[in-house]
Amino acid sequence: MADDRQRIDDLVNRGLLDQWYAVAKSVQVKPGKPHAVKALGRNLVLWRDASGALKCLEDYCPHRGARLSRGEVLGDNIACRYHGVTLDGSGTIVRVPAMPDCALEGRSPVESFPVAEACDAIFVYFAGAEHAEPLPLTLPEEFTSPDWTSILCVAPWTCNYRYALDNLADPMHGSYLHANSFTLAFGAKQDQMRIERNATGFVVTRVEQQGENFDWTEMVTETAAPYCRLDIPYPAAAGPGGPFRIIGFTTPVDEGDCLVFFWRLRKASGLPREVWRFLYRATLEARHWHVLEQDREMLESMPADARKREMLYQHDIGVARIRQALVNKAKAQLAAHDAAATRSAG
Ligand code: FES
Ligand SMILES: [Fe+2]
Repeated sequence: MADDRQRIDDLVNRGLLDQWYAVAKSVQVKPGKPHAVKALGRNLVLWRDASGALKCLEDYCPHRGARLSRGEVLGDNIACRYHGVTLDGSGTIVRVPAMPDCALEGRSPVESFPVAEACDAIFVYFAGAEHAEPLPLTLPEEFTSPDWTSILCVAPWTCNYRYALDNLADPMHGSYLHANSFTLAFGAKQDQMRIERNATGFVVTRVEQQGENFDWTEMVTETAAPYCRLDIPYPAAAGPGGPFRIIGFTTPVDEGDCLVFFWRLRKASGLPREVWRFLYRATLEARHWHVLEQDREMLESMPADARKREMLYQHDIGVARIRQALVNKAKAQLAAHDAAATRSAG
């Protein structure tokens, strides 16, 4: 049993499989230039083919192990800088320029990853035993709705991604950690929390207070690209569009690092949309970064094994629920993995 618990914990800490993860901003992968990323402990290289479509391989040259991200893009393919071995987007060696008719040509020794691009970000699919073919990438409706406008910010945090998820499932911290910020100084500092289940996950919300502060978070867990949604009430001085909405994705880089992707959104179109985007860039963005830095500094200062000594109380029902959702998925993935291993052994 202790072993099972450890396996579950290890899988959750590394990052669940059969999921899409945001790995980079679209603008980071420029035409003609390979781009290295790391997610779930894997080094990956991204590049754009001649049509601009993204490709993603393990960042590893099958000849002697050089990083493909140090190489160059040749048309649709990527060529290693060390001796020129060239691979296509499926991980097949298409050319070994230093050796005519080399037997390596046509072999496919490098793993390729499904990759998609949406709302200024790049998502990569990590397959597990259950879903080798990528599950649908279902993104928040705000990403495609003409009623919303968004600005993406991405930050590396030196902590396991679970700390970022726990933080998002814990709206009560807004009234304390962010009490000196532009908008989160308002409202009561005492409350109870409650959970409401819905078809895709749950909402953790304050019982007494709504519309004053960071009062609820929706955790969308039952999807191949989990995320959270929350609103921060904004004063009229912050421009058109009502509350400031945040949609957040977290990506495990390795066990001690993560990337957080936060889309900052307002419901505005036409001229009000342009006014808000201008205001955001000019004044609001710095304030939002200040709040995010408060989260980052707090989470990075916590010990990596804080869970072993914590004393949860009623406010932490969202934290407990998100952890349970991760554990349930990990159990299912390990069972599928073990069943596949038994089948192939038999
Ligand atoms: S290591 Fe890449 S071509 Fe030799
Ligand atoms: Fe926060």
